[in-house]
Amino acid sequence: MNLTGSSAVVTGGASGLGLATAKRLLEAGAEVVVLVDLPASDGKAVAESLGDKAVFAPADVRNADEVNSAYDAAEAVAPVRALVHCAGRGGAVRLVNKDGSPGDIDLYSEVIGINLIGSFNVLRLAAARMAKNEPVDGDRGVCILTASVAAFEGQIGQIPYASAKAGVVGMTIVAARDLARKQIRVCTIAPGTFDTPLLNRLSEDVRGSLAATVPHPSRLGQPDEYAKLALSIIDNGMINGETIRLDGAIRMAPR
Ligand SMILES: NC(=O)c1ccc[n+]([C@@H]2O[C@H](COP(=O)([O-])OP(=O)(O)OC[C@H]3O[C@@H](n4cnc5c(N)ncnc54)[C@H](O)[C@@H]3O)[C@@H](O)[C@H]2O)c1
Repeated sequence: MNLTGSSAVVTGGASGLGLATAKRLLEAGAEVVVLVDLPASDGKAVAESLGDKAVFAPADVRNADEVNSAYDAAEAVAPVRALVHCAGRGGAVRLVNKDGSPGDIDLYSEVIGINLIGSFNVLRLAAARMAKNEPVDGDRGVCILTASVAAFEGQIGQIPYASAKAGVVGMTIVAARDLARKQIRVCTIAPGTFDTPLLNRLSEDVRGSLAATVPHPSRLGQPDEYAKLALSIIDNGMINGETIRLDGAIRMAPR
């Protein structure tokens, strides 16, 4: 789908994979790219650095009113035909804590809320708007969600994150089927280990050992490699309902 005459919304757009994708969407000719991110993020400064076709919309992806305001900002310029949903975060929970108490259900719920319910929220609100668009190259819109290889091989401690990302993988084919008659495609990218601020929180040693576990290429992924796949999915009208691993063939060990 050609992006000329369309706007795009990128959640988690202030950082990492979302920011790299926003840059590519602008290069591809989107009329405006709305960066959705938390009010406390660098979204405002990041949008300014990308030029006058980038706009920051402070929003929590779980909040319908805030996300709708972001879509309003995009539609004020051009119909929203692309959503790339990158907002997300981890959170470690064990089933049994070191002191023998059961794992933290509040943190479990929070991680599910951000990664899974947040994905449903941004997807449903985008789809309702895209359904009213005129088709371009056969599509009224394309939605790309972000899972993780943890959806398939979650490591010990990743139970909330792995559950949420597996939910994102699960919703992908259902969403594509549901939205097929509306001519909206839905795909998911499941990244392996990417060099973003999310991984910067880990020590250099841990980042190095993560990189070494990637069979080929034996390094962390670059955010632009995610962005290129997102743009390729938007471009290729036959890709639909699929989760694509983007991981250099990594298969995560139990810990
Ligand atoms: N970096 C990796 O190795 C990796 C691997 C697998 C999956 N992922 C997934 O890719 C996505 C992007 O990750 P990243 O590496 O770019 O991380 P990142 O931390 O650089 O960016 C994530 C962005 O999401 C925003 N965000 C978090 N919670 C939000 C909320 N409730 N509402 C709105 N915005 C929110 C953050 O402020 C941040 O700017 C995430 O969903 C992450 O789970 C990343």
